[in-house]
Amino acid sequence: MIIAANWKAYVVDLEKAKQLLATSKKLARTYKGTIVLAPPTPLLGALASGNKSKVAFAAQDVSLTTGGAHTGEVLASMYATVGARYAIVGHSERRAAGDTNAVVVEKIRHILACGLTPILCIGEQEHDAEGRYLAFVREEITTALSSFTQKERSQFILAYEPIWAIGKSSSAAMDPNDLTEMVLYIRKVLAELIPGKAATRIPILYGGSVEPTNILDLARSTHIDGFLIGHASVDVATFTALIKAIS
Ligand code: PGA
Repeated sequence: MIIAANWKAYVVDLEKAKQLLATSKKLARTYKGTIVLAPPTPLLGALASGNKSKVAFAAQDVSLTTGGAHTGEVLASMYATVGARYAIVGHSERRAAGDTNAVVVEKIRHILACGLTPILCIGEQEHDAEGRYLAFVREEITTALSSFTQKERSQFILAYEPIWAIGKSSSAAMDPNDLTEMVLYIRKVLAELIPGKAATRIPILYGGSVEPTNILDLARSTHIDGFLIGHASVDVATFTALIKAIS
């Protein structure tokens, strides 16, 4: 399983960041899956340089620009230079700040161009009884993937993060049965966009109030390939408990 820790802007100081990295390195020695940390940009720079452990790094977002006179922008290629291997893109908090599907496509272009793996976030605002969320999620996946070649499409990781389930406590996370249905649906959409076995190899992660108390239920029989974890990933004890729960 891929466990991606989205530190958002929760982790502010370097000491705390170093503690979390040390814990992750220790856990990675025995954990059979992949641990990916997505720290805020300056902290990523400090932690990833010289990192030789199994722990990988992800950008939380990348710039829409490709360099030049753009004060304050952090490019995908800069993340690659300091040792990131992944980049989260299209997170609902970035979409809320103005990233449209078209912006997300452009950012993915930059991410792929410098050899990073995109972790594309998708997810509906509301799990409505009429099932409109299905068309919404289909649209997010289709617009993003259809802009790329078959080979590029097969390099994606998808993170299904229903917006209504983000940043709450475990009781507000998605019901495992509903998640199973959603994973099947996303697989179906992927199969329409990527021919053959490649579609089945795209990892699908779940994000939204994953905590040590619910991670096992969300992992068991839902066919999910991992998790994108926010608030529960920034506390040493809680993160340790998360990894132990699914080991
Ligand atoms: P959460 O955040 O685990 O705090 O719900 C997940 C995310 O937004 O990636």
